[in-house]
Amino acid sequence: MPEVKTGCMLTIDRLYAGQMPEREELKKLLTCHTDEDAEYLFRLARQVRERIYGKDVYVRGLVEFTNYCRNNCYYCGIRRGNGNACRYRLSDEEIYNCCDEGYRTGFRTFVLQGGEDVYFTRERLCIIIENIKKKHPDCAITLSVGERDYKDYLAWYESGADRYLLRHETAAGWHYNKLHPAEMSLAHRKECLFMLKEIGYQTGAGFMAGSPFQTPECIVEDLYFLRSLRPHMVGTGPFISQKDTPFAGKDNGTLEQTLFLLGVIRLMLPYVLLPATTALGTIAPDGRERGLLAGANVVMPNLSPVSVRDKYSLYDNKIYTGEESAQCVECLQRRIEQTGYRMVMGRGDVLGYLS
Ligand code: 5AD
Repeated sequence: MPEVKTGCMLTIDRLYAGQMPEREELKKLLTCHTDEDAEYLFRLARQVRERIYGKDVYVRGLVEFTNYCRNNCYYCGIRRGNGNACRYRLSDEEIYNCCDEGYRTGFRTFVLQGGEDVYFTRERLCIIIENIKKKHPDCAITLSVGERDYKDYLAWYESGADRYLLRHETAAGWHYNKLHPAEMSLAHRKECLFMLKEIGYQTGAGFMAGSPFQTPECIVEDLYFLRSLRPHMVGTGPFISQKDTPFAGKDNGTLEQTLFLLGVIRLMLPYVLLPATTALGTIAPDGRERGLLAGANVVMPNLSPVSVRDKYSLYDNKIYTGEESAQCVECLQRRIEQTGYRMVMGRGDVLGYLS
């Protein structure tokens, strides 16, 4: 450690102390930090996560149960306009089988994730949630099925869903409109997030690192938005281009940028459940391990049937066999242990809340 701290280190100290730096100062941190500053950030981020979660890394079994989607987000491989996407929908039985297999393996959280597929009506999803909960009352269910109305969210919560992931994608309005067609709105997405929190879900927001047109100011807005929403979970991974989308060929987000954001988010929201995402594991072979060492404390291996895994292709080269999959929890365990952390197969609820 140098005798004199850099300006970035002082900003990192402020975040560590629970203060929110001014926008300009945050922008400077994001744009001007050195490798040494980043190491300093990661060290403090680990300290914070270890104070709250010890060495525990929570695992969630991810069930990607439909890739039909009514939306047409420019970055996403399962957008409705992608005629090359091979569409699938798991049957109720297939979904239950995934959860049963996951349960036998030791998973106690299931994440039901899908495109915005109106085939899964309020009632259909209620039945699925209730049946999983009946069979596995000791498990948490996380939903990630996009923007729906209040009554849907409430009914699913009353059926037993515990958590909900809905990334806000970007908190800057003009940027939101560069990533999405005019029929989608940032205001509505934010409204959904506040509804989910009000209903009682452990709620997750998030955004991509390095998405097309993103500026440092956008990221500052994202951080300020997260600070005001105070979510229980934040999903952040690098943007990775997908060949059948309007953003084919656009630059991907980088490992370094994503890691740095994970560290900042950990300091800003000490209790947050923060996954080292599949996208992070896709841009670098040791991406997820590095994510854990930058402040992340969750991993989400894939429980979907092997036959559909290549079809949930949000972005190119998504890893979907081998060590990220739930079929190889021992591999995953080994990789987590190599970082000095320990894999924990409990429900893994959030352990506190930013006041
Ligand atoms: N690269 C990285 N992440 C993506 N997502 C969608 N498309 C991509 C992409 N091309 C993310 C979005 C979405 C989540 C399910 O996956 O942030 O909320």
